[in-house]
Amino acid sequence: MDVRLRPVTAGDLAMFERFAVEPGLVGLDWGGFRDAQEPARRFAKDGYLGPDGGRLIVEAEDAATGFVSWTAKQYGGVAGCWEIGIALLPEWRGQGIGWRAQDMLCEYLFTYTPVQRIEAGTHPENTAEQKSLEKAGFRLEGVLRSVEFRAGQWRDGRLYSRLRDD
Ligand SMILES: CC(C)(COP(=O)(O)OP(=O)(O)OC[C@H]1O[C@@H](n2cnc3c(N)ncnc32)[C@H](O)[C@@H]1OP(=O)(O)O)[C@@H](O)C(=O)NCCC(=O)NCCS
Repeated sequence: MDVRLRPVTAGDLAMFERFAVEPGLVGLDWGGFRDAQEPARRFAKDGYLGPDGGRLIVEAEDAATGFVSWTAKQYGGVAGCWEIGIALLPEWRGQGIGWRAQDMLCEYLFTYTPVQRIEAGTHPENTAEQKSLEKAGFRLEGVLRSVEFRAGQWRDGRLYSRLRDD
């Protein structure tokens, strides 16, 4: 599967609006309805390419299959790290796109930003994302207890990381 990452265009905003208001489309990260106007505002502000994070579209077979994202995180000291995320449209899942896109995003971030560490969290039942992260060079760091309120309950998470020299 030929996968590439490209900047968001105005034509992609309809997909982001769907993720905001279609229950469950985004997968386990669904947390209720979100403001469907927010993607247009963010796009107008910085094209989803800001200093503290952004999004790139995941393209395969000349189609926009979903997006990857990164957000700045700081544990102390002088240098932060990135937390990445991904959501593919259901019809594009399970075809080898997700692990490649996350691997490519890490290469991109390690090339154009000086971070030493990229992390990603996922759900204990999200086998597809756990396998994707491992194929993309991430290692499991541990369980985060009761870290997320989702679908009516506090739930554990799993934290993964990939270092510049892994
Ligand atoms: C999670 C997600 C990014 C994975 O990407 P993907 O393109 O579907 O996964 P890939 O095709 O790259 O598969 C990677 C590995 O996971 C396995 N896998 C894929 N879907 C699976 C599933 N539903 N159940 C179990 N394993 C699965 C693949 O077999 C492959 O492992 P293998 O090489 O050992 O066979 C994608 O499914 C998605 O966007 N899901 C909804 C949003 C989401 O959950 N995002 C992450 C939130 S933390």
